[in-house]
Amino acid sequence: MKIVSIIGSPHGEKGNTGKLLGEVLKGAEREGAACETIVLRGNSVKPCMGCDQCHKKGHCPQKDEFESIKEKMLAADGVILATPNYIFQVSGQLKVFLDRCSSLIHCMALEGKYGACVVTSGGGDELPIVQYLYHFLIVSGVTPIDAVWATMGTSEPDTQVSEENRKQAYSLGRTLVKAWEEKRSFSMVEKMQKEHRKRMQELINWHQEEWPYEYAFWKERE
Ligand SMILES: Cc1cc2nc3c(=O)[nH]c(=O)nc-3n(C[C@H](O)[C@H](O)[C@H](O)COP(=O)(O)O)c2cc1C
Repeated sequence: MKIVSIIGSPHGEKGNTGKLLGEVLKGAEREGAACETIVLRGNSVKPCMGCDQCHKKGHCPQKDEFESIKEKMLAADGVILATPNYIFQVSGQLKVFLDRCSSLIHCMALEGKYGACVVTSGGGDELPIVQYLYHFLIVSGVTPIDAVWATMGTSEPDTQVSEENRKQAYSLGRTLVKAWEEKRSFSMVEKMQKEHRKRMQELINWHQEEWPYEYAFWKERE
């Protein structure tokens, strides 16, 4: 299984989120997965310009790292999204990236992949962020397996992942690979994806003149 993880934190793999994600990846690697981590520090992916070119042509005209990260996600079997809590939400670094994925959501282009989320905070409130990332994964076509989150205080070089969180994270990594191997399905995820697919097909049918790339994408899938 090939897993691509995306961390939206300026502290990268050495930050709190990176440390917790690292434990997930140890578990996944134990089950044989090949893992690659992409760090979004805030300068490699620019904000969406709202130009609709991705819907029209299938790619973004901005010259930055977005398209290469997108290709890595498309080539992977699993996607893990990891973020610190920045004022009760995902970090701006990750949100900018997620906004750029609009066409992936319109096409549910990550269909068939499995995913997970990792969230850390200074003082709590991780759950709404986990729910948001779950929603993003589901509407992109991904089957999310589970999430791990931890309240870790400020980001310091010597901050450690607690033993309880380490075990949860490691177990999540192992489960992610097993779920992919067994092609596990979850009725709630399937129901949400069925509804989203119908909604997107209607939307893109309606916009078939303006969005020829996405119209052709769904036509081919019919
Ligand atoms: C700009 C900013 C906003 C933050 N907002 C919150 C917050 O609303 N709630 C909270 O519990 N922690 C908040 N934190 C703390 C981080 O979520 C926490 O230290 C996190 O584990 C850092 O992860 P990292 O080392 O991967 O960047 C904030 C930190 C920063 C830098």
